[in-house]
Amino acid sequence: MRVTIKDVAKKSGFSITSVSLVLNNKETKIPESSRQLILSTAEELGYRPNRLAVGLLKKKTKLLGLVIPDNSNMFFSELSKSVEIAARKRGYSLIYGNTSDVYSRDYEYLKLFVDHQVDGIVITKSSHLPEKEDIRNLEFLQKNNVPFVVVDRQPKGFHSDMVTVNNTTGGYMATKYLIECGHRKIGCFTGPLGLTTSQQRLDGYKKALEEFNIRYDENLVVEGNFSSGFEDKAMSVFLNKKVTAVFCQNDIMAFGIYRAANKSGIKIPSQLSVIGYDNINLCDIVYPGLTTIHQPIDQIGEESVRILTKLIENSNQKIEAEVKELEPKLVIRNSIISIVEGE
Ligand code: RIB
Repeated sequence: MRVTIKDVAKKSGFSITSVSLVLNNKETKIPESSRQLILSTAEELGYRPNRLAVGLLKKKTKLLGLVIPDNSNMFFSELSKSVEIAARKRGYSLIYGNTSDVYSRDYEYLKLFVDHQVDGIVITKSSHLPEKEDIRNLEFLQKNNVPFVVVDRQPKGFHSDMVTVNNTTGGYMATKYLIECGHRKIGCFTGPLGLTTSQQRLDGYKKALEEFNIRYDENLVVEGNFSSGFEDKAMSVFLNKKVTAVFCQNDIMAFGIYRAANKSGIKIPSQLSVIGYDNINLCDIVYPGLTTIHQPIDQIGEESVRILTKLIENSNQKIEAEVKELEPKLVIRNSIISIVEGE
């Protein structure tokens, strides 16, 4: 049983009314000495206000929810950190749910957050969430008038507030850099192709090949899962096809290619060049340092909470959905060699 206002009143010797006024920070004529005694008694007993009850009264809990698909991937742990910093800066607390890419949990967490009266939700959906369920989830929030911002992975056929990074540009930059280093036979190790992020990065890969008159060969494209488990299959395809470089659509899969190359006795970058995507902190730690496409994770967190708190604080108005698209950038380290003739 939780400590209640009644327990604090009994222990301190003050009335329930006086204790309630003090613990709810209301204007009172209660002497300061008595106020301090009530507060110290509450502290001693471990009293905590029932934020849900307060939230129901005020219609605001100052609590935000965050759904992420894989907190073992530093992209998402760094994202949850940036969302938390942005929330705290605006006086909000954050609770988050990690679905571990089990897409039925997306809806479970949304219902849990609504049950706990969060004021708004930031959502990065699971990789294989079916389109119909994606739409059902977002419509569920709309029916409950819960403001939300979609981050990174766009729902198809559903216009909502969103923060994303220009994935086509990112895929193009990665591939163009490899071509400028003399590579012509370039493998592409994609994320789940049902995600807009993966599809758009693949579009950028194709765009760069076309610009340099290099024929697109779908046999050089291997679908992964933004995590691990597909790197050995990918490596065998890439070695079989004699690629000289691989564009991995996220850093975790690039590290998988490092591991598979090591197992096959292939040296990076002298025998195989690798570029990743995200620029998570590990890129500087692995050897050789991973050349990659930087996603501005801090800015993603800041922009998603800025938009969300705008929606919360103007919840009585109909506001046109805001789509914020941020720009990626190339970060050159040591995982690519130039094979340009004469260099
Ligand atoms: O690393 C996880 C990937 O999933 C990131 O590239 C992010 O953009 C998300 O789509």
